[in-house]
Amino acid sequence: MFRALGEQLRKPSGTFGKIVAKMMDTRNREYYEKIISDLELKSGDNVYEIGYGPGWGIGLIADSTFDCSISGIDFSELMYSEATKRNQLFIDEGRVNLTYGDFLTASIDPETYDKVFCVNVIYFWSDLNRVFKKIYAMMNKEGLFCIFMTPDKVIAHLKFTEEFFKYPIKQVESELKKAGFNSVEHKLDKGYYIKARK
Ligand SMILES: C[S@@+](CC[C@H](N)C(=O)[O-])C[C@H]1O[C@@H](n2cnc3c(N)ncnc32)[C@H](O)[C@@H]1O
Repeated sequence: MFRALGEQLRKPSGTFGKIVAKMMDTRNREYYEKIISDLELKSGDNVYEIGYGPGWGIGLIADSTFDCSISGIDFSELMYSEATKRNQLFIDEGRVNLTYGDFLTASIDPETYDKVFCVNVIYFWSDLNRVFKKIYAMMNKEGLFCIFMTPDKVIAHLKFTEEFFKYPIKQVESELKKAGFNSVEHKLDKGYYIKARK
């Protein structure tokens, strides 16, 4: 049961996936509101979310900005369909572009995005260095990458997170610097909000 919940969080699918998506919707709103304010969004920004889940964060940005272009990728077919339904209006307007695919293997043009972010996704990446280098490469000069993650010590005590990678904040920050990010900082508020500048 717990293992199944962990797997659903990694890649939601089927009826159980829909229930998990509803849970994420209500639980993670607060994290989204905070990380979006950390993104320092400005007119004309090209924004990208990795692992958008039900698409709540994408919708929030589209709703609160007029001329940011927002893209995202998720490798759950169910989340792609839920996020598409939720953001159909913005997709039709050409302001939101959602991809169904694996970020780790997706081909992404270099130096394209001003802001990149992810919420509760880092636990599913086995090789942070490789992922952070990929993110660094897709970002414009002086771009900003924001991460939200639950602290490793909290995750270690949950029953459904056996398969999750439990990264200490120091390791995440050190991998960001190794990938080339210039300035890396974090704040702790129920979880870590990390900001890394190119
Ligand atoms: C725990 S959920 C978080 C969803 C959403 N960010 C939120 O906080 O509500 C993790 C999401 O990341 C997606 N995901 C995990 N690894 C991924 C990868 N390598 N490429 C694309 N999406 C991925 C999953 O499909 C899932 O929707």
